[in-house]
Amino acid sequence: MLIHETISGLRAARATAGRVALVPTMGNLHDGHIALMTQARAHADQVIATIFVNRLQFRPGEDFEKYPRTFAADCARMEAAGVEHLFAPGEAEMYPQPQSYHVEPPPEQAGVLDGEFRPGHFRGVATVVMKLFQIAQADVALFGKKDYQQLMVIRNMVREFAVPVEIIPGETVRAADGLALSSRNGYLSASERAEAPRLYRELTGIAAAIRDGARNYPDLEARAMNVLSMNAWAPDYVAVRKKHDLQSPSAADSGLVVLAAARLGSTRLIDNLEV
Ligand code: PAF
Repeated sequence: MLIHETISGLRAARATAGRVALVPTMGNLHDGHIALMTQARAHADQVIATIFVNRLQFRPGEDFEKYPRTFAADCARMEAAGVEHLFAPGEAEMYPQPQSYHVEPPPEQAGVLDGEFRPGHFRGVATVVMKLFQIAQADVALFGKKDYQQLMVIRNMVREFAVPVEIIPGETVRAADGLALSSRNGYLSASERAEAPRLYRELTGIAAAIRDGARNYPDLEARAMNVLSMNAWAPDYVAVRKKHDLQSPSAADSGLVVLAAARLGSTRLIDNLEV
């Protein structure tokens, strides 16, 4: 695997790489990232993965500083997964002066759900992803469904800006007990880790109730929020939404997804389940 720290270095390599698949990450790789890289291989001659902890998508007081940086271990995993190129720029290379232009996703997409609790987060994501697209000029790019709202924002951005890249979703990878793999799971204490699968169990319960005909979504959401609160979680939201635009469904709508975000101790976890 070749490691590129500069935009010019990656561009030179990309020029002879044939069909390219891009897998953007912030590092601290887990099996979910590796599954995306393996999936990427089927779509391209060469895979470019990126590691860049993007300051723009963190709010003041969030975990930018303590976000786990595990570069050597990440490189070993990517080598084993057959990734040809890693783009790992420093901040000065990625944002040489303060980045004064930003991609601003519309509030109905980026100001709801996670965007309501992390204002500006999707602006930071969209800006860095647009920049990575310009740098890597990939034919396809892969993003996990675990970050469902992020995937929607990126898809819409690509469509509205006519970016010539195909967005391919990857399924969420889970631990045996159902917990969605996430770099932030490493923050959990042993007792929190034992409790953490409850989030997925609540989503599973709501999805099953909807499949059985339940249509009182606010009631389902409130019950799950209550169960989480009673078990020492601080839930931000549990929400039944339409898959394609993440707006609230009517009883007649199909194609739904249940999304949740909740804090367990100091760790904020998100998850979702398509119905
Ligand atoms: O999903 C992530 O890890 C990040 O949001 C991404 C897409 C790499 C942008 O920084």
